Amino acid sequence: MIIDGHTRTCGLIGNPVEHTMSPMIHNTLAEKLNHNLVYVPFHVEEGQIVHAVRGAFSLNLLGLNVTVPYKSQVIPALSQVDELAEKIGAVNTLVRREDGFKGYNTDMPGLYRAMCSEGIQIEGQDVILLGAGGAARAVAFLCASKNVSRVYMLNRSLEKAEAVAEEVNEKTGKKCIYPMALSDYHELPEQKFLAIQATSVGLYPDVDRVVIEDEEFYRKVHTGYDLIYKPSQTRFMKMVRAQGGKAYHGLKMLLYQGIIAYELWNDVTVSEEMALQVYEVMKEKMGIKEEA
Ligand code: ATR
Repeated sequence: MIIDGHTRTCGLIGNPVEHTMSPMIHNTLAEKLNHNLVYVPFHVEEGQIVHAVRGAFSLNLLGLNVTVPYKSQVIPALSQVDELAEKIGAVNTLVRREDGFKGYNTDMPGLYRAMCSEGIQIEGQDVILLGAGGAARAVAFLCASKNVSRVYMLNRSLEKAEAVAEEVNEKTGKKCIYPMALSDYHELPEQKFLAIQATSVGLYPDVDRVVIEDEEFYRKVHTGYDLIYKPSQTRFMKMVRAQGGKAYHGLKMLLYQGIIAYELWNDVTVSEEMALQVYEVMKEKMGIKEEA
């Protein structure tokens, strides 16, 4: 790669950023598409996020991704916020505009594209959503916006699920999110569901943990989608598969949130074929040999 006077810079702001896969996604895309662009991580200290965004704009950066803990804190530093990101209340992509950065959320469209790419249909489905934290909240918005039939949102603390369900139902006008306590899972209707695992349980290094231990629960799951990608086979996925369901990890969601950001920055459409080439590079880096 040749860096010259025309090279455009994109990057990731967050804390920590040291283990990110995003440079691999974007630099691979830039190389394959022959774009004069580099993508670098920027570690931003607490209290510095607004300065960082203003400085990035002054330095003529083309765009930024935003990660933990700044996805909400970054919003006051932006000139505009896209409608979906505003509803979710979290921004993970900043796109340069004339008067400042515009904020987008590509995590949820990324999850949607990842599911489409796996042949998982969300429209009209009955969904079990595990969790009510930041990630689950965004998934609830996605489900409501894609006209799912029902979403049973199961969370350890019922109050949190109730608050999120009320907010999503009200903001989308869909009334499709039904909050439940995690411990009441046996009260779910006797049918098969698409289950989306959006808690932090089972994340590396706690790879032996799963949010519901009872194998009876997994008999109700025809497809399990874990937002976690490290490990690439979570205990949740194993339990779904053990009861005959299909199971997926979250690496493709990570891929597509990056692809959508890249498309926004460069005003291009990345083909599915190109996306899958980048995915191969990611899997190799993660040491994932095969897809189930
Ligand atoms: P994120 O932004 O990744 O969603 P978060 O907002 O901290 O992270 O949310 C973490 C989610 O994992 C929550 O739904 C949390 O449940 P509570 O709201 O009851 O805390 C869930 N979670 C974390 N540890 C858990 C555990 N040991 N058992 C069950 N759920 C757990």
